[in-house]
Amino acid sequence: MRLSQSLSMLLLAGASILSAQGQNNFDIIPKPSSITLATGAYHIPADLQVIVSTDFQEATQLLTEHPAIQSVSLEILKKNKKTPKEGFRIIKAVEGDNLSKNAYSIQIDETGLLLKAWDTPQLINGIYTLIQLGYLQADPSNIAFVTIVDEPRFAYRGLHLDVSRHFMPLSFVKKYIDVMAIYKFNNFHWHLTDGAGWRLEIKKYPELTQKAAWRTHTHWKDWWNNGRQYVAQGSPNASGGYYTQDEARELVHYAAQRGINVIPEIEMPGHSEEVLAVYPELSCSGKPYSQGEFCIGNEKTFEFLKNVLDEVLTIFPSQYIHIGGDEAEKKHWAACPKDQALMQKEGLKSVDELQSYAIKQMDVYLQSKGRKLIGWDEILQGGLTEGATVMSWRGEEGGINAANAGHDVIMTPSSHLYFDSYQTDPRTQPEAIGGYLTLDKVYSYNPIPAAIQEDKAKHILGAQANIWTEYVPTTEHVEYMVFPRALALSEVNWTKKEAKNWIDFHGRLQSHYKLLQDLNLNYYRPSFNVAYTATYDIDKNTNKITLSTEQRDSSQIRYTIDGSSPSIQSTPYTGPFELSSTGHINAAYFQDSIKIGPTLSFDIDIHRAIGKKVTYNTAWSGYPAQGDSTLTNGIMGGLSYHDGQWQGFTSPIDVVVDLERREEVHQVAMNFMQMIGPGVYMPGEMEVLLSDNGRTFRKVGTVVNDISDQDPKLIFKRFELKLNKVQQARYIKIKASNPKKGYLFTDEIIVY
Ligand code: ACM
Repeated sequence: MRLSQSLSMLLLAGASILSAQGQNNFDIIPKPSSITLATGAYHIPADLQVIVSTDFQEATQLLTEHPAIQSVSLEILKKNKKTPKEGFRIIKAVEGDNLSKNAYSIQIDETGLLLKAWDTPQLINGIYTLIQLGYLQADPSNIAFVTIVDEPRFAYRGLHLDVSRHFMPLSFVKKYIDVMAIYKFNNFHWHLTDGAGWRLEIKKYPELTQKAAWRTHTHWKDWWNNGRQYVAQGSPNASGGYYTQDEARELVHYAAQRGINVIPEIEMPGHSEEVLAVYPELSCSGKPYSQGEFCIGNEKTFEFLKNVLDEVLTIFPSQYIHIGGDEAEKKHWAACPKDQALMQKEGLKSVDELQSYAIKQMDVYLQSKGRKLIGWDEILQGGLTEGATVMSWRGEEGGINAANAGHDVIMTPSSHLYFDSYQTDPRTQPEAIGGYLTLDKVYSYNPIPAAIQEDKAKHILGAQANIWTEYVPTTEHVEYMVFPRALALSEVNWTKKEAKNWIDFHGRLQSHYKLLQDLNLNYYRPSFNVAYTATYDIDKNTNKITLSTEQRDSSQIRYTIDGSSPSIQSTPYTGPFELSSTGHINAAYFQDSIKIGPTLSFDIDIHRAIGKKVTYNTAWSGYPAQGDSTLTNGIMGGLSYHDGQWQGFTSPIDVVVDLERREEVHQVAMNFMQMIGPGVYMPGEMEVLLSDNGRTFRKVGTVVNDISDQDPKLIFKRFELKLNKVQQARYIKIKASNPKKGYLFTDEIIVY
């Protein structure tokens, strides 16, 4: 069969496909561009003889990672020799193959197996397709006749790992690389330095690993809350670690064999507390433990950074070198005579421009060594240096601006690709840094936002997920946070937008749980939680309720709308439904007639203040949600304060609702959330006042908080005041105190 004929798309409908020779599973993730099945099957021998083009000898040895292949012996096919007609053949493509440069093709038929590619990276992709297929089969040595032609959507397919907040042993980093390869990632971003520990041997600066790599507490949170001190290696309780240069080289080699480039990140100018603790002369104050930012006005800073990079460049052949650039506290520079003098000398008008100046020095230096600089999107502040590639993490805006200005960009927005976020209801999970990022939300990500000009889309190189480890202290926990979300990302990066389909992916994913088990990964198991969305339609005055589960079959959800507990007799969920009145919904997941998940319980409020004007005597801050309409739009917030329905205040709250005419008021309520990690607290109390004229208010009651401000879990509380005596009023003022001076988040003022 000609390859071009096989391009007809076969949609895998989620389930495994049965071939004539028995069960074969083609639930490949990321989904290939085309798969065409035929009748028949091929048996892969355990001691495999491969006919291989000269260029592909080394990569072919990777086949020993296939679960049915124990050894591989090679028969070299010299250049310009014809491809043999039979056997297990790994062959360099030629023009007549009609194979695009970024693709590989696999053809399995009566003649054996023929894998073709133009170059090693594409060949490696093909080999990992075979390896993954091996893991997916009940009998990995048997594979149905098939033709696969496959190429990626994006050239950059990244995963990151923070080994500063918690050090991870080299053996684990190799395991991480192994899994990345199976899912066709090709860039590993190694976050090697940060305030919580320096992790790479630098021969010229031994104290970086003799002291700055070791700290007083094993868990980041304990260390953070208890003085944040570094201690000498080997001293009692010293906790941490680092990679020697030889170990880092070993990892680079190991990853390269598997088609993965390793990008080291050396943080500057911020997030550098650990460096400045041992080399305090590089900070503005000259004192250790005084700041996390290098002094840019000090020439020695650049001498240090260039010396460090010189060693880094001998270890990492990566074209890209990451220099951080995020979250610098620039106030130190504004108060530093050296920085002020440099700004004067260089005509820099702001501390942003001073940071930009520093990044430019590194950009020029890296370019002089034939490398390219990558930085987090803060490097746009004060002007983006010419040769830089931007990693857009604070949303997509930085990436959009950089791409439209002609810079290369890697998309890694925290909204969709921060795997340190909770992946299911936070109330059921080990403590995480915050956020809420479900598997389907990762899958929904499109790295090319609509705001990218068409001719600039080529500057989006691809997407990457980041795993920061402040709250991820062990390798098992890294696995729990990263998998299976990384599988969704692999398809975001690989599979054409038109060919992506969540239901199809979710179906194929079921086959991968066994694969992840075979790889001994502590992946996140899909929960039996039920989640919901309620969308209020102000014209119809109804709520549309959608229930969902991480299990495949949402019809196993049963629910009630009258407040009673769900049972096997309750209504099965068949799809979104509408409710035109206030109610209380309970829902749970059932299997074999048994309720096996927790009950989801939530209020639906169709209340008197919906659509009414709110006057803000204190303003929201940072989290506007839907602006002035948020608190009376009938829509409640969900599990995350990033969901556009939770409005955030850093002051006390003082707002007034105008009911437009005198109405009976029976009950006034407001929801709040607490999540103390990111500084979100309950109000001390909520006070309700009524008025007929909007000027003179009478207090009708107070609800006092009873939730501990020490509880680390996500907590929701409805502050509800039921009036003893029904009152008439046009205006309702609600005041909520903010004793912790943190964030107050509320989503709605509910009036009955
Ligand atoms: C970052 O998350 N600070 C890049």
